[in-house]
Amino acid sequence: MEALKGVRILDMTHVQAGPTCSQLLAWMGADVIKFENPAGDATRGQLRDVPNADSLYFTMLNCNKRSITVNMKNPEGKAVFVDLLKKCDIIMENFGPGVLDRFGFTWEKIHEINPKIVMGSIKGFGSSGPYADFKAYENVAQAMGGAMSTTGVPDGPPFVTGAQIGDSGTGLHLAIGLLAALRQAEQSGQGQYVEVAMMDGVMNLCRVKFRDHQRLTRGDLPEYSVPTYKGMGDVPRAGNDSGGGQLGNAIHCKPHGANDWLYIVVQEAVWDALAKRIGPEVHIPDLATDARFSTIGERRKHQQLMWTLINKFAENYTKRELMAILNPLDVPCGPIMSTEDLATDEHVRGRDMWVELDHPQRGKWYNVGMPIKLSASPAKIERSPTLGEHTDEVLKEVLGLSDADIASKRTAGAFSLPPKKK
Ligand SMILES: CC(C)(COP(=O)(O)OP(=O)(O)OC[C@H]1O[C@@H](n2cnc3c(N)ncnc32)[C@H](O)[C@@H]1OP(=O)(O)O)[C@@H](O)C(=O)NCCC(=O)NCCS
Repeated sequence: MEALKGVRILDMTHVQAGPTCSQLLAWMGADVIKFENPAGDATRGQLRDVPNADSLYFTMLNCNKRSITVNMKNPEGKAVFVDLLKKCDIIMENFGPGVLDRFGFTWEKIHEINPKIVMGSIKGFGSSGPYADFKAYENVAQAMGGAMSTTGVPDGPPFVTGAQIGDSGTGLHLAIGLLAALRQAEQSGQGQYVEVAMMDGVMNLCRVKFRDHQRLTRGDLPEYSVPTYKGMGDVPRAGNDSGGGQLGNAIHCKPHGANDWLYIVVQEAVWDALAKRIGPEVHIPDLATDARFSTIGERRKHQQLMWTLINKFAENYTKRELMAILNPLDVPCGPIMSTEDLATDEHVRGRDMWVELDHPQRGKWYNVGMPIKLSASPAKIERSPTLGEHTDEVLKEVLGLSDADIASKRTAGAFSLPPKKK
């Protein structure tokens, strides 16, 4: 049985942050009803690669959901919303600040309608504080949560990371909060409001940088390859430094193209074996006993030279060859994998992390698979719904409406937007 079988979610989320969360919950077996503006989630039409087909932006974030369109600005539409609220365990949204309140549905009102329902909200900055009224997108959250100021090299601009820590990262945080609140609701009969601010989520993911922020009040950061000093205040951008207790960096390999790099962690325990292997080829046969590298403290002091030597060794090998040399020595390392590398990787395919799907509008396409593997209920990945594909099905199955009821609500404009005034 699927882990979340029987859990019904009224999913008002759009774009990326919320849909990431509801897709994961759908993959764990929840019945996720994507409650869409009749105009559709804006991402259906964004970055389209196939004319008139739902974009990959949408399809990759909305698998295993049912789509129903309801106009929340129409009284009949609102009545359908209220009826669905009564039949769901979770409601979730990531509208801009105040949108749901303007529809007339504050958390207090929703709680009154269904005291057991758990409500999840994502906002850029939460519902309190000076930033509460602001909208946010991924890179705004990366900028304001500490990620950008600590990513890049010191004399270059701050960088965003390709991993969507602001959107998808916040979706993950929300999923954890919703499951905890659901468990509590099952025991107490009372739902609660679960709020995750994107800025807070990014700060949480930058936790180690705030560790370093406080260490700087006492001294420099010897593991950083860039200059740091006591009291400098801001944690600097440190390129590809490991950011942990062990030294690490990206090493450029043959044939020195954009992704011909191997990330290597020079773990304390492996230095001896690593030094014995590379020493002779970089003309320092006694590297393993060289005083400049004899302890981790010494290696931190002389890390620029250490990385130069390892880079010199790497000149003769591709990233895969270097990996094959280092793995038997137990050196933690990994090639920088391009999207193409990953899409064709045997390990990735074997773990169902690049999944082929079919879609009525776009034909064959791929989604990144479910990264959380439950042994008793593995995810079965199914395509995303077309806009409003399940409107009638949900109204009949969940609300018990008849064809005549549905037709009357449809005529009243519950499921569509009024024509634009000319
Ligand atoms: C992402 C974001 C910036 C997009 O802004 P936006 O496109 O202006 O969308 P909003 O959420 O503010 O507004 C949605 C609009 O659709 C309307 N709408 C949504 N669902 C509707 C429905 N079922 N029926 C009728 N109207 C609907 C809302 O009423 C609102 O219009 P209004 O402002 O006239 O009331 C904003 O939603 C946001 O800040 N969200 C929170 C943070 C977040 O999740 N960001 C990451 C997204 S990946």
